[in-house]
Amino acid sequence: MTSAEIRQRFISFFVKNDHLEIPSANLVARDDPSLLLVNSGMAAIKPYFTGEEKPPHKRLVDIQKCVRTEDLEEVGDPHHHTFFEMLGSWSIGDYGKKLAVELAWELLTSDEGFNLEAPKLYVTIFAGNDYIPADEETAGYWRNVGVPDEHILRLPAEDNLWVSGPTGPCGPCTEVIYDRGEKYSCGIDCNPTCNCGRFYEIWNAGVFMQYDRKSETEFDKLPFLSVDTGAGLERLAAVLQGKDSNYETDLFAPLVTEITSGLNVDSLTPRQKQSVRIVTDHLRAAFFLIADGVTPSNKQEGYVLRRLIRRAVTHQVLLKIEHKDLYFRLFKQIIDIYSDFYPEVANPGIVDILKIEHQNFLKALQRGLNVLNRELSEVTQENAGKTNIFPGEIAFEIESTYGVPLETQEELAENYGLEVDEKAYQKAYEEHQELSRKGAASKFGKVQEYAPEEIAPLHTATHLLHAALREILGVQVKQAGQSLTPERLRFDFTFERKLTREEIEKVESLVNGKIKAGLAVIKKETTFHQAVKEGALALFREKYKEVDKVTMYQIDSFSKELCGGPHVEDTSELGCFKIVKEESVGKGIRRIKAVLEENN
Ligand code: ALA
Repeated sequence: MTSAEIRQRFISFFVKNDHLEIPSANLVARDDPSLLLVNSGMAAIKPYFTGEEKPPHKRLVDIQKCVRTEDLEEVGDPHHHTFFEMLGSWSIGDYGKKLAVELAWELLTSDEGFNLEAPKLYVTIFAGNDYIPADEETAGYWRNVGVPDEHILRLPAEDNLWVSGPTGPCGPCTEVIYDRGEKYSCGIDCNPTCNCGRFYEIWNAGVFMQYDRKSETEFDKLPFLSVDTGAGLERLAAVLQGKDSNYETDLFAPLVTEITSGLNVDSLTPRQKQSVRIVTDHLRAAFFLIADGVTPSNKQEGYVLRRLIRRAVTHQVLLKIEHKDLYFRLFKQIIDIYSDFYPEVANPGIVDILKIEHQNFLKALQRGLNVLNRELSEVTQENAGKTNIFPGEIAFEIESTYGVPLETQEELAENYGLEVDEKAYQKAYEEHQELSRKGAASKFGKVQEYAPEEIAPLHTATHLLHAALREILGVQVKQAGQSLTPERLRFDFTFERKLTREEIEKVESLVNGKIKAGLAVIKKETTFHQAVKEGALALFREKYKEVDKVTMYQIDSFSKELCGGPHVEDTSELGCFKIVKEESVGKGIRRIKAVLEENN
């Protein structure tokens, strides 16, 4: 069964059962402060579950582009990848567990569905914990459709309490596992909860959304129960196409063929095969991210993309891949495999962005690898068999100077029989963090030389500007930097093109309207977790931990940002806001300079 047919059968089945098909959302989680990238079908439609927004229909179905980078280290094995397509179906406060189970079973086992043999299927249910009871009701429905008791497994919260982020709609789930047979078994202890590859999780057949998670231990009841299902297309394809690995399915194989075209495929070591999968996965993900408007940068989703491309480049170098026109050849394959479903991938600009990032990183990487090889052989000689430790400080130095990732260094070190001292690496990393914090403080020392009352008005104006840009241009606008003097503010933000005169005027007048309204600027001490929950904008999201204390400044319902201040108490103190310059400062980044003039 081709992947196109799998998509088709999934959609048709649910449409036949009165579900409305909706399109895939952009990969960037635009309006969700708890998430950078959409990591599941439900992540793109969260407000339906809380009742904040009304869905176009109570039963929905779609195929959603997703990216997950939490298990980046596992990418390289036969069944993990960062980008995937999720087949999803929903009941938003409509049917419940019973019909969800019945539909799942019919789709999996019927001829028009996936025609899987029932004896090879196992299901899991939530075993219960201190906060949420066991889901025996669902076990009963599985028994009713014919699943024997021994094929119903009860699993703890880590496995069967599904949450899409630190907060938000969640609930116990029930998953379907497919037994791919003895051939894949890892030994006599192999059982359906094993991750070895024999028992393959193919469908989260129902998250029963009943709770809104407020924290680790607080779960509020949602106003109604919803059902959220999600199946990874690549996994289903591996099962239905009888392939050992997702990378052998029609969704990946043509890409793997391009990547390995100059290599002797039969003589690749297991490690090299892993590198091939990493290159394939990361580049496929990069194509989709760029198609959705992400460009490599040092922040947020741009940083995710940069890491993926850099890691792909590193493994290309390890494999000694002849580059030539690889990105263009992959582009053609991507168009063949995907453009019928995702026309946005057919954009030749993607290849240019990949090439530029590749070139920029390659030189540094090659220098870094040379230094690393020299260090490795020196350490080997000095040690002369006494110890097999490669100093962590050196590993950190090479990573921070040349960008050779720790894991690549560890792999290369292994060739010399050496092991990187991870504790020392970690220590060097922490010391560096500390130094750069201090450095940053002194860099901003200039700003702090100004008296608070001198720069407070422009500081507040910057928050108003940020909010106004997001309102006029869209929430893809994100702060990329700022600098203040008593005379002017400078604000950098992500946006693809020059602003029109009309847009600039709209932004100015929105800001001036908020100034005239004389709104109170309210300072609130809170935790990062709480601030994000309230929708505050946070610039360096990854710098905070959930429990970190932060200061949030709020201006009416218009602007909420984490910030150290200083700010004015009331917007009427600001005068008249005027944009004096709007320019580009790099790909996808715009800069605005603005001043506050005296009212006359
Ligand atoms: N949202 C659920 C998942 O991703 C279906 O597993």
